Amino acid sequence: MYYHRLGSIPPKRHTQFRQPDGTLYKEELVTSEGFSGIYSTLYHINPPTRIKKIKEPIRFAPTKTEPYNLRHCHLNTSAVTSTGTDYLSARKVLMMNNDCSISICSPSARKMDYFYKNAEGDEVLFVHDGKGVLISPFGRLEFRQGDYVVIPRTVIYKLEFEEGPLRLLIIESASPVETVKRYRSQLGQLLEHSPYCERDIRPPADLIAERGEGDFLIQIKKEGYLHQYVYDYSPLDLIGWDGFLWPYAFSIHDFEPITGRIHQPPPVHQTFQGHNFVICSFVPRLFDYHPKAVPAPYNHSNIDSDEVLYYAEGNFMSRKGIARGSFTLHPGGLPHGPHPGTVEKSLGAKETHELAVMIDTFRPLHLTKDAEGFEDKDYPMSWTENNGSFNEVNAP
Ligand SMILES: [Fe+2]
Repeated sequence: MYYHRLGSIPPKRHTQFRQPDGTLYKEELVTSEGFSGIYSTLYHINPPTRIKKIKEPIRFAPTKTEPYNLRHCHLNTSAVTSTGTDYLSARKVLMMNNDCSISICSPSARKMDYFYKNAEGDEVLFVHDGKGVLISPFGRLEFRQGDYVVIPRTVIYKLEFEEGPLRLLIIESASPVETVKRYRSQLGQLLEHSPYCERDIRPPADLIAERGEGDFLIQIKKEGYLHQYVYDYSPLDLIGWDGFLWPYAFSIHDFEPITGRIHQPPPVHQTFQGHNFVICSFVPRLFDYHPKAVPAPYNHSNIDSDEVLYYAEGNFMSRKGIARGSFTLHPGGLPHGPHPGTVEKSLGAKETHELAVMIDTFRPLHLTKDAEGFEDKDYPMSWTENNGSFNEVNAP
């Protein structure tokens, strides 16, 4: 991330900064990884600590399926148009481990009448379908189809969606979600060989600076519960902020693919990193241009990772059973690869129009009860069938 500022801030931090009525603005330092990570300094009109009421917490945790069952999985969520009414109740975790979880979310309600704060995880929302705005103390952040919206933990927010199809892929991370370390200079700037740079990262704009007094409910996610905190002033009361910690949007369409004469490995698609997992973007690109290149991926034994692909757009519909909104999970411990006949069919292909998000985890992923209804039970045996189609998603 990079330094950004919005609104009014005093020339020097931790100094007197007064409102028009002569009272002080209330400074809040938001830090990560103790005082060793990125941070921002926020200036509130009212103290951010004024709790009016604490209500009973609500249980909010997925259930893992037991026992763990080693198998290739295909979860087909293509038919889903709504996973619930509200943004939180509609979040359905499908796969999880202690480092991250992967959810789908298609709420039917387009506005939230409360605020939400994830106090234990960063969130990445991939907007597969939909358009709207994330409203937070940092300002308004508009998002649209194809955006990754990255929300650091403890950012209080609400979402407003426009009418129309709405489908979010949500990755929640126990560790900070960061840009890829090898693409950053020693001082943090994205380097020339990075597939995207700071210009592609969209910060919030238009502070709300809401002064009103009332009942402002913030549902705070921590340790398997939504804790119900009512504050007497709006959390959107910032007059200014600066720092490196803020929610941002980055469009998958701004990811510049890295291609080569022969098949490029998945790390060229890497977009974000967390502890023990990565997020990759497969975007439209030219295929390998060696005269004898094999565009289809090779068989692959991923001995240290579980590989999840979420199929967003492209010709993968020609592959048996895979649809727009499908997930595949190829766990470490089993080789996976192209379906029968697909390698020959791929020869001579010049380009791909695929769009897919991959999450590779370095610890095993467990399916949840919510995933059970989406599972294609025939998938583990699908390499034995002679279906002969070419899986355009070119991930090994
Ligand atoms: Fe693989």
